[in-house]
Amino acid sequence: MTAPKKLFIKTYGCQMNVYDSERMAEAMGGQGYVETQSADDADMILLNTCHIREKAAEKVYSELGRLKPLKDLKPDLKIGVAGCVAQAEGAEIMRRQPAVDLVVGPQSYHRLPAMEAKVRAGGTALDTDFPEEDKFEHLKGRGPKGKRNPAAFLTVQEGCDKFCAFCVVPYTRGAEVSRPAARVLEEARDLVERGVREVTLLGQNVNAYHGHEGGLSGLIRDLAKVDGLERIRYTTSHPNDMDDDLIAAHGEVPELMPYLHLPVQSGSDHILKRMNRSHTAESYLRVIERIRAARPDIILSGDFIVGFPEETDADFEATMELVRQVKYGYAYSFKYSTRPGTPAAERTLVDVDVADARLQTLQSLITRHQREIQESMVGRDVSVLIERAGREAGQMLGKSEYLHSVHIENCTGQIGDIAKVRIVEAKTNSLTARHL
Ligand code: 5AD
Ligand code: SF4
Repeated sequence: MTAPKKLFIKTYGCQMNVYDSERMAEAMGGQGYVETQSADDADMILLNTCHIREKAAEKVYSELGRLKPLKDLKPDLKIGVAGCVAQAEGAEIMRRQPAVDLVVGPQSYHRLPAMEAKVRAGGTALDTDFPEEDKFEHLKGRGPKGKRNPAAFLTVQEGCDKFCAFCVVPYTRGAEVSRPAARVLEEARDLVERGVREVTLLGQNVNAYHGHEGGLSGLIRDLAKVDGLERIRYTTSHPNDMDDDLIAAHGEVPELMPYLHLPVQSGSDHILKRMNRSHTAESYLRVIERIRAARPDIILSGDFIVGFPEETDADFEATMELVRQVKYGYAYSFKYSTRPGTPAAERTLVDVDVADARLQTLQSLITRHQREIQESMVGRDVSVLIERAGREAGQMLGKSEYLHSVHIENCTGQIGDIAKVRIVEAKTNSLTARHL
């Protein structure tokens, strides 16, 4: 028997890339590959890339530059680029870095085994199509069915039709496509058999999901009936797709966790309009109000862009005001990054120092809120899905229903258990708890 070949995958960007990397590793299992955690002993290296901001895309080229000497030492090593940079730049990647053998876009992963065979035979392979066939079906069950971490991602929707003026996703991931509910349910049951207790449903615009006649909430209600599946989350959503039943589900489905990532991007109506967001600050706040009425303890999270072209001090202040009103448990803020080919790319930029200063101001407000919410958890009883053992004896780590990382001291539970705990301390990035 020949020794298995080793595959090293480095994942950048969002959770969907994490999911895609897992599926690619499984698909390559069928080609005799096992995963390795180090580039040095790999026979094939795949970078699963992100194109959302310029920095993310540039990182890929510097990483490829670092990998090239490895290939000089080991000519049989194959290097591939997957993900959104692959989709956006295609053959240009091989021109800029000839050490790259293979470029595969996010919609063509199921063709990876055939592409690998082609590069093994000495050629190069490029596929950035949006093929008709269902990649999820082609990827299914290729690899060995190993035990899984109790919390897993499950992609249910891909692509986006919203065309926010700053965003590359509608171009790199294409039009909105939903997987049929039956397939998602089948995959969820399979994950449960492999030890999964919590799924996070993924999509670039997941609440536009239409693979179930009842939309995303219909899918969630069906998933909640799957035996052994204890927790459901979904990300990432658009405020305009928070329909009545999805909001109601937050109050009615106990398996749906009280945490919601609902990006708004800006608190200024002028900027929201220029961003082509199709909602106002006020309509966003109304949605939040209704979600909080359905599930009063819900923790909210959001995304913000500062320094969007033409953003004035008053626009920025409107964003600060919206953050003060919502008080997010978590929030991610980014400085606007020009993406070639998007409508906003043509517009006049805000002075870089002004944008930097705004980012800092916003981030310190968000961090203060985050900290206050973490501290308000002290003394409360929460449930934690145990995901792994901690460094100290008797310590276990997991996530609360609110997605806080929790260290449980003197824990008597096992990985995959949902432990009832009392929070005793709030640290910078985690909470400490006592097992009840
Ligand atoms: N510049 C800065 N941030 C961006 N995002 C998307 N496109 C850009 C861009 N061009 C942010 C948005 C989105 C998150 C995933 O990334 O806030 O919600
Ligand atoms: Fe990009 Fe999200 Fe806007 Fe779609 S809704 S274009 S993924 S920011």
